[in-house]
Amino acid sequence: MQGNKTFTMIKPDGVANNYIGAILDKIIAAGFNIKAMKYTRLSRQEAETFYAIHSERPFFGELVEYMSSGPIVAAILEKENAVEDFRTLIGATDPAKAAEGTIRKMYAESISANAVHGSDSDENAAIEGAFFFSGREIF
Ligand code: CMP
Repeated sequence: MQGNKTFTMIKPDGVANNYIGAILDKIIAAGFNIKAMKYTRLSRQEAETFYAIHSERPFFGELVEYMSSGPIVAAILEKENAVEDFRTLIGATDPAKAAEGTIRKMYAESISANAVHGSDSDENAAIEGAFFFSGREIF
């Protein structure tokens, strides 16, 4: 059985382009409940730790630089089948390949500045949520 929580970030481009409200509207309209939410900024070291799974990838340096370049919104979301349904809602990593109506198709700039992050598994959703939130911040 699939879990009912996922983790998301509205990335620096989504925040800088004033899409926080529009993106949250789409998330809520799709049936997700917000269990925790935080407006914050990652240090370079925090971005390295958060994305450690990608440390061997050629784009790791660019990813860390970008994700620490400005404020983000981090959130834990709840819905049945949350991880898979959220990835459908946000669309492909590369907005040029994202389906019409998805968040990345509507609001992302590029594969790096792609508006939102979504966990790729229940296990990573738990790890990523715990990176930003402690128990009493989750409702
Ligand atoms: P995200 O879902 O946050 O997880 C890893 C991120 O790495 C991904 O979104 C993209 O923003 C970024 N990424 C993936 N592939 C590339 C690439 N080829 N070049 C730059 N960034 C990438």
